[in-house]
Amino acid sequence: MDRRSFLAAAAATFVLPAPATSSSRTLARDPFTLGVASGDPSAGGFVLWTRLALDPLGANGRGAMPSRDIEVQWQLAADERFGKIVRSGTAEARWKDAHSVHVELDGLEPGREYFYRFRAEGRLSPVGRTRTAPTGSTQPLAFAVAACAHYEHGFYTAYRRLAEQEPDLVLFLGDYLYEYGPSGYSALAGRVRTHTPGKCATLADYRLRHAQYKSDADLQRAHATAPWLVSFDDHELENNWAGPVSSTGAPAFAHRRASAFRAYYENMPLRRASLQGAVLRVNRRVSWGTLARFHLLDTRQFRDDQACLDGVRAGCDERLSERRTLLGGDQWRWLSDGLRASTTQWNLLGQQILMMQRDYKRGPGREVNLDAWDGYAAERARLLELMSTTSNPVVLTGDAHMHHSASLKLDFDDPDSPVIAPELVTSSIASDGDGYRDKVWIEEGLAENPHISYIDQRRGYIMARLNAAELSAEFRTLEYISRKGAPAKTTHRVTVPTKAT
Ligand SMILES: [Fe+2]
Repeated sequence: MDRRSFLAAAAATFVLPAPATSSSRTLARDPFTLGVASGDPSAGGFVLWTRLALDPLGANGRGAMPSRDIEVQWQLAADERFGKIVRSGTAEARWKDAHSVHVELDGLEPGREYFYRFRAEGRLSPVGRTRTAPTGSTQPLAFAVAACAHYEHGFYTAYRRLAEQEPDLVLFLGDYLYEYGPSGYSALAGRVRTHTPGKCATLADYRLRHAQYKSDADLQRAHATAPWLVSFDDHELENNWAGPVSSTGAPAFAHRRASAFRAYYENMPLRRASLQGAVLRVNRRVSWGTLARFHLLDTRQFRDDQACLDGVRAGCDERLSERRTLLGGDQWRWLSDGLRASTTQWNLLGQQILMMQRDYKRGPGREVNLDAWDGYAAERARLLELMSTTSNPVVLTGDAHMHHSASLKLDFDDPDSPVIAPELVTSSIASDGDGYRDKVWIEEGLAENPHISYIDQRRGYIMARLNAAELSAEFRTLEYISRKGAPAKTTHRVTVPTKAT
């Protein structure tokens, strides 16, 4: 029996004793239409997540749920057949939390696989697979890197292919959803399905958009396959927002931001402590034994506004100012302390926007994206200096909607400047549609930026394998997403040996 059949069989035979508190209540339909998920593994546990919705597109982002709290039972098993239950319990799916459930577990065995499922008023959830982090350095890590999944632009075949590879962990680096109304962004990419009406502005709008995205079977499959480490970029709220500043002058932006954060928390396998009033704290560290530590950054919430009115442009001296910050003072101290204190062999910085210098202008002169690290060049230089003393740093990036492989250097314009770290940029899962491969444009880009070795404009994700000797990363690429069923191929491979420290 393959894993899928196992999981189906496990779901079919799920029997729990009837809970005392919901004996007379039943839900009219399956409330698990948004799937299940897990996240933020530690050596002793993880977060289990689900959110109940009888109809993902129900009014006000409420999923057509009754206006009462609902008790949900959960089970954790050591085996796919749920023959050996290791934990079980109940959690409240509260109306005020849009019937989301976050269960944080601890005290489990390190470095092993677990299976979980939920039940609500007699209805059973799909089964999810997750795992705890190991404690030592001998267990290798296979992790996928993904970003940017515009729902209208294509089917989520890349999520399905990623799930089929059964990684230990999925790192998600932003633009999980897009805030625009139907065809509100890059209509050129085509449209295979349609966003819920209107641009997201209220808590109800963001809840509804999350539910629409989560109703996708391929996305559900990817969540049910492995724990995710999620972080957001701009579109979970609004294009190119910066700290307290709306890029569009949206009214009551602080309230809109808090609404987007709340909906994000409700729909993600994040720990309860991440939602701190109006702040959503996603910069955090997750260790994979002594082999690797992820340092997840938030390059959006604490940044200064973009220099020179944002955009891709030349001649902006402000972007070089020593005073400008992308991370904010607190996060900078947290990161620098964490990198200095880290004792793991590898240090993986998961973050949203291109860290490399990226000249988009053909020929003489330079045009850079002021929304990316190029707009915060002095802080980038300080970070690269810091990383030069870090054990085996690797930077993992989203946002670009193109695969990139590059070398981060203290001086990008000096061919002899030492390489500080590789930067691996994943293309999008779906944003910008089928994609293409413009060889002339790519060759020009590589010629302008000699520290970049690979660019690919097609959709995909990165599959990385890490052990004590090396990091091996495969850039996985799909030829189309306007139809279902595209295979994923490895179109480029990067191998990084460990440096002795
Ligand atoms: Fe994006």
